[in-house]
Amino acid sequence: MSATRSVEFDVKDIGLAKQGKQRIEWSEREMPVLRLIRERFAEEKPLSGAKLVACAHITTETANLARALQAGGAEAILIASNPLSTQDDVAASLVSDWGIPVYAIKGESTDTYNRHVRTALDSHPEIIIDDGSDVVATLIKERGDQVKELVGSTEETTTGIQRLKAMEAAGVLSFPSIAVNNAQTKHFFDNRYGTGQSTLDGIIRATNILLAGRNLVVVGYGWCGKGVALRARGMGANVIVTEIDPIKAVEAVMDGFRVMPIADASAVGDIFVTVTGNRHVIDGDHFARMKDSAIVCNSGHFDLELNLVALREMASEPLTMRPFVEEYKIKANGRRIIVLGEGRLINLAAADVMDMSFANQALSVEYLVKNKGKLAPGVHLLPPEVDTEIASLKLQALGISIDTLTAEQIEYISSWETGT
Ligand SMILES: NC(=O)c1ccc[n+]([C@@H]2O[C@H](COP(=O)([O-])OP(=O)(O)OC[C@H]3O[C@@H](n4cnc5c(N)ncnc54)[C@H](O)[C@@H]3O)[C@@H](O)[C@H]2O)c1
Repeated sequence: MSATRSVEFDVKDIGLAKQGKQRIEWSEREMPVLRLIRERFAEEKPLSGAKLVACAHITTETANLARALQAGGAEAILIASNPLSTQDDVAASLVSDWGIPVYAIKGESTDTYNRHVRTALDSHPEIIIDDGSDVVATLIKERGDQVKELVGSTEETTTGIQRLKAMEAAGVLSFPSIAVNNAQTKHFFDNRYGTGQSTLDGIIRATNILLAGRNLVVVGYGWCGKGVALRARGMGANVIVTEIDPIKAVEAVMDGFRVMPIADASAVGDIFVTVTGNRHVIDGDHFARMKDSAIVCNSGHFDLELNLVALREMASEPLTMRPFVEEYKIKANGRRIIVLGEGRLINLAAADVMDMSFANQALSVEYLVKNKGKLAPGVHLLPPEVDTEIASLKLQALGISIDTLTAEQIEYISSWETGT
């Protein structure tokens, strides 16, 4: 751990800052909503003095969120939510150019990750921005005395919200937590279009393969799965969907995709993408049925969607073919299985993400600060007007205007008396 500009940090190489700064400023151009929020925050200082810990993918986009929070007056500390997604140059620039304490090193071990979580909690945050709920879970498990200092937390992803709801059910969630993922301007867009595009981008960057004509199996037809399936079809892949929810399965059929159980899909797929938030959705017996050189990856939050423990037991020592590409040879049948990004989020391990999630995060923090002490403990949605504000800012940034209801229309849709 070191200190510069009087901030503590733990990053790979502070000398990478120059390149990181350029990339942060480049990605800002693709984040017009967050930029508009940062400009307002800089004038109004709504987060003045708020002590904040943000656990997120340390990428150029998160860097711009950190800049917005800082402009709003917050004192933010950043830690990585995933060991493979950290961009070391971005971490360096945040420390050296913006004086933001960052604890994140690409490839960090689980022990280092846990140490960073605890170091961040040593700062006694009033607000936690979480991604997967590890920081909140550690606070509750290990720092019971600090929980009362928390104004609230925000949660970025589907899996983290599942964990928060489990905490709520167990009666241990004693503060408000904003389910950022459940905002419409988050999951409709970032999960579907952001994860859809960037997952395929991650696969292509890692492997350099052509998707056209391949059988691409999407495991889970939720928001992320819909995006992956939609974009893969656009690139010429034959998309197969597997699901456990009959409604999602029917939706996939009506959207024009083949639907079958994973046991059948595993024998025909060329490329597999898991996006369920669930455990071992591709298991040992599925790996055993796969074709030679099948490519397998995950875009769900945790690295347990693929049962890699089972694969390692069935296969000889993996060979690293390229960065993020490991080949396992199954001893029983000699077939090779290609695993990307060690089964961790392939889009973040090898690609970039999006604007509106971070706008939601910034406005959620503002909402928590403004409503300090007023919100009941538990999982909260962002008020719908914030969603509408973000969508309006996005339209404004795109230079698109839309219609508004006329007085006659307002009267018509609010009346029960007018019929045919
Ligand atoms: N990679 C990213 O950038 C990114 C972005 C957003 C969300 N996520 C993560 O991706 C995961 C999915 O998110 P989402 O918003 O699409 O969730 P979602 O709840 O909308 O969809 C998950 C789908 O998986 C299905 N499913 C569950 N178990 C299954 C199984 N065994 N086989 C087949 N299908 C199964 C569910 O029925 C559901 O339809 C979560 O872990 C979330 O945290 C990742």
